[in-house]
Amino acid sequence: MIIPGPIREILELARWAPSGDNTQPWRFEVIDDHHFVVHAFDTRDHCVYDLDGHPSQIALGAMLETLAIAASAHGMRAALSRRSNAPDTHPEYQVELTPDKQVSTDPLLPYVKQRSVQRRPMRTTSLTSPQKQALQDAVGDAYTVRWFEGGTQRWRFARLMFANAKLRLTLPEAYTVHRDIIEWQARFSEDRVPDQALGLDAMTLKLMRWIMTSWQRVKFFNTWLAGHLTPRIELDLLPGLLCAAHFAIQARKAPETLDDYVAAGRAVQRFWLTATSLGLQLQPEMTPLIFSRYAREGVEFSRMPGAMETAARLARRLAGILQDVPASQVAFLGRIGSGKVPTSRSLRLPVERLTRIE
Ligand SMILES: Cc1cc2nc3c(=O)[nH]c(=O)nc-3n(C[C@H](O)[C@H](O)[C@H](O)COP(=O)(O)O)c2cc1C
Repeated sequence: MIIPGPIREILELARWAPSGDNTQPWRFEVIDDHHFVVHAFDTRDHCVYDLDGHPSQIALGAMLETLAIAASAHGMRAALSRRSNAPDTHPEYQVELTPDKQVSTDPLLPYVKQRSVQRRPMRTTSLTSPQKQALQDAVGDAYTVRWFEGGTQRWRFARLMFANAKLRLTLPEAYTVHRDIIEWQARFSEDRVPDQALGLDAMTLKLMRWIMTSWQRVKFFNTWLAGHLTPRIELDLLPGLLCAAHFAIQARKAPETLDDYVAAGRAVQRFWLTATSLGLQLQPEMTPLIFSRYAREGVEFSRMPGAMETAARLARRLAGILQDVPASQVAFLGRIGSGKVPTSRSLRLPVERLTRIE
């Protein structure tokens, strides 16, 4: 398939945007040398973390921002217009690339492919004021970056993540998601998350692989042998403690619409790329925020008895940690710090598989 020059190079980069569980919820339709359409979608029909589509919409925003960054390298402006007749579950954008002398290469361009999630422990050395300022500048005036630092705050976050993970690892609806998105015995994965990027040690990984072959096994281990304990320690408690800080990107106005979440995603990507440019590692911590939204909005997310009550308890706990930051205004939550570059990561589907030509 011959994709016209600059469009190919732009899509080549845009596809490196992050998405929940590396779902890459976008496809491209090339119209001509300067026009293409983004066909996005969410995963609400099968993903318990995406029942309102907002995580996919944040990812879409991150991809659109990356697209604009990639276009800047060609001295082009990427003018986006959302098709109003497309449903929110399948948003569509017409993209027009126009040469513009005012556009210079975005300084974040070199970090697009380098940016990657780090789920393992990071150093606890605090971020400097210039680093924090650069990260605040990255998100712009519509958002404020709130920091949760120091031993006590990190401990509170780590314990919240640990409690939150019990819900995540015992939900039948989450089991099918985890089963389908993990690529076992892999360091890299084009369309999923390689198991080595999860942050588990080799022994636990092996056991998890065996347990996760059936829901019955997962249930048995969880019920009788506290099978969720070791993963929660390795994936949530220790990383929650071992980082410089947790952060919340707070929107001035609580995001509600598709456009609000897409705009937040654009800011998130500039934040993450700036962190990469500063040599910092980052991991999103989105599930407490998602469960808290389900509890607030009464989204029935599980058939498991007591799941909603647990989500409501977690939401109260999150609110206690966030204090004067209302959870409804938090567009993104995560941990950050300096540390090793991950040795295992998700790759992306090739441009040909993401694209069709009209
Ligand atoms: C909206 C959104 C939510 C995410 N939530 C989480 C999360 O809760 N925990 C986590 O470890 N990674 C999370 N991620 C990171 C993705 O899993 C990761 O970006 C994806 O697998 C691609 O890997 P890469 O970032 O290394 O390229 C999230 C990413 C996005 C865009």
